[in-house]
Amino acid sequence: MIISTEQPTITNTQFLTETLEGLSTEPKRMYSKYFYDEAGDLIFQQIMDMDEYYLTNAEMEIMKRQSAEIVNTIAADGSGFDLIELGAGDATKSIHLLKTLIDKNMDFKYFPIDISAHVISELEDKLPAIFPTLNLQGLNGDYFEMLQKATEISTRKKVVLFMGANIGNMSVDEAREFCINLKALLSLNDILIIGFDLKKNPKKILAAYNDKGGITRAFNLNLLSRINRELGGDFNIDGFEHYASYNPETGECKSYLISLEKQTVKIGNSTFNLEKDEYILMEISQKYAQQEIEELAGLSGFKVAAYFSDEQGYFVDAIWEVA
Ligand code: TRP
Repeated sequence: MIISTEQPTITNTQFLTETLEGLSTEPKRMYSKYFYDEAGDLIFQQIMDMDEYYLTNAEMEIMKRQSAEIVNTIAADGSGFDLIELGAGDATKSIHLLKTLIDKNMDFKYFPIDISAHVISELEDKLPAIFPTLNLQGLNGDYFEMLQKATEISTRKKVVLFMGANIGNMSVDEAREFCINLKALLSLNDILIIGFDLKKNPKKILAAYNDKGGITRAFNLNLLSRINRELGGDFNIDGFEHYASYNPETGECKSYLISLEKQTVKIGNSTFNLEKDEYILMEISQKYAQQEIEELAGLSGFKVAAYFSDEQGYFVDAIWEVA
């Protein structure tokens, strides 16, 4: 387990507060950012390796095959810029973009932002070994706070990377608010590269969140185990079943845990009752149509400069420019 050396109490307090809050609302819900502890990271690796989980491969293909075109779009005027990645993780996808930028001798500095201090220190070890000339400064913390900090460090043009299905883990309203807040921190002509999983055959989408091998189930249950471990909870892990649904009309793909029996759960001093068959909403993965992406850009003060999609048309990395 990674414990932040700077603010261990604050982080854990927030985890506790949000967990208690989520279990006190009707219907009960949890927050997906807490999926990714050390065990969760490993299970998520397995999800990404599943045949059914097309998202990672689709975006990887975009980055591998179309980095040169992406670079032409974001750096058309040749001026220097800061490349800021929100939720950089292990940078396996952005590495292709970094390589292209370096090969083309572009003048840029890379600021990976991540909530995990561990992730940032790994990147600071790994990336200079691969790219000795890379100008790099890791920022550990909240997206918006760290983006604000990056704008204080330099006034150069900003290119913000927000990949994966990250935006999809917000509801449509939350995504709108997020994009508006992001735009407020940027200046005219700054750029956002943002990944969206597209609406497609509902069976294809559902299969990605409902594998037969039980990996997605394990991923969801791991959050209950984490609550037991870190917050003194007593969830009976066997008393829950994973259920996924996709609604082609709204584009919402949702993961739930269903309580198989009437049960009482204690977390610290708090007690929660679950009815038999009661569900906990674990995660939303919003899928978008191209027109909805366009609307979201317009509503939040951006204009779409380009779309980069995989061969199958499953996923898109959109390039937005502050309008
Ligand atoms: N959040 C990612 C996504 O929407 C990861 C993910 C895949 C996930 N399967 C999941 C999150 C199941 C929660 C439950 O694609």
